[in-house]
Amino acid sequence: MADLDEIKAEKDYHLDKPFTTVGDFHVKGAGNLDWGMRKRLSNIFNPKTGNTVMFAFDHGYFMGSVSGLERLDLLIPRLAPHIDVLMGTRGALRTSVSPSFRKGVALRVSSGSSMLNDDLSHETLAVDIEDAIRMDADCMAVQVFIGADGQKDSIDTLSKVVNAGNRYGVPTLGVVAVGKDMERTDRYFKLATRIIAELGANIVKTYYCDRFEEVVAACPVPIVVAGGKKLPEKEALDMAFKAMQGGASGLDMGRNIFQSRYPQAMADAVSKIVHENFTINEAWEFFEDTRSCL
Ligand code: R5P
Repeated sequence: MADLDEIKAEKDYHLDKPFTTVGDFHVKGAGNLDWGMRKRLSNIFNPKTGNTVMFAFDHGYFMGSVSGLERLDLLIPRLAPHIDVLMGTRGALRTSVSPSFRKGVALRVSSGSSMLNDDLSHETLAVDIEDAIRMDADCMAVQVFIGADGQKDSIDTLSKVVNAGNRYGVPTLGVVAVGKDMERTDRYFKLATRIIAELGANIVKTYYCDRFEEVVAACPVPIVVAGGKKLPEKEALDMAFKAMQGGASGLDMGRNIFQSRYPQAMADAVSKIVHENFTINEAWEFFEDTRSCL
């Protein structure tokens, strides 16, 4: 059985050549999709910039009440004007988030783990397509554990979601899950992101890494970068900048926004990088100016 060591290093990602997107649609790899799929993807990726700022608050599906997310009913109204997409569970959205924000919705549909487990990789499908449509989800998010014991479970769940999503015109967001024993290398992320895209996900979420531009080049659908553990704001903005420079189509930040002392200023600074090509220094200066007014 082949393993990572046996996979020969690819030689040429043609980094100088943009992806040959079919037609003029602004989302990578979506040119052949149906109207409804492309409308939902346009609710996620801004047609003017092709990019997105997702605010992730779906951590509760396996972490319970996470620091900074204690009161979603108070947090989301403050942040909604500063982001493009709300990424949450159906329970959080229905109980704590007004449907009047007119933002994209990335609905967490997989579940099955909790912080009490050592192995988080055995997830299952929790939300069916009917409820995703009822929630007017613009994509369905599935955690995919490539290389973990639960790999087959998560690929099975991903495939069920892609099948249902293709049937009803709802895109799938495949989330690269990185267990504590997994390597956060470009080799791993190239493998995981490509598998998820090959299995039909329309968007892939992963983490920033060295040679990230090669990870992006080898993935035929847009990559959105998760923020990961809380960093000092400048480091988080630097990671966001490098991810966008590396070809990401946006950020999906949670802890680096909701655990910041200045969540709105952080979300706005990330948005400046994602949609207005701010440099790290411009974004940092913007963040400092904004937080001083709060
Ligand atoms: C959590 O498990 C989800 O996958 C989050 O949506 C994702 O990790 C982004 O959140 P953070 O920026 O806090 O990592």
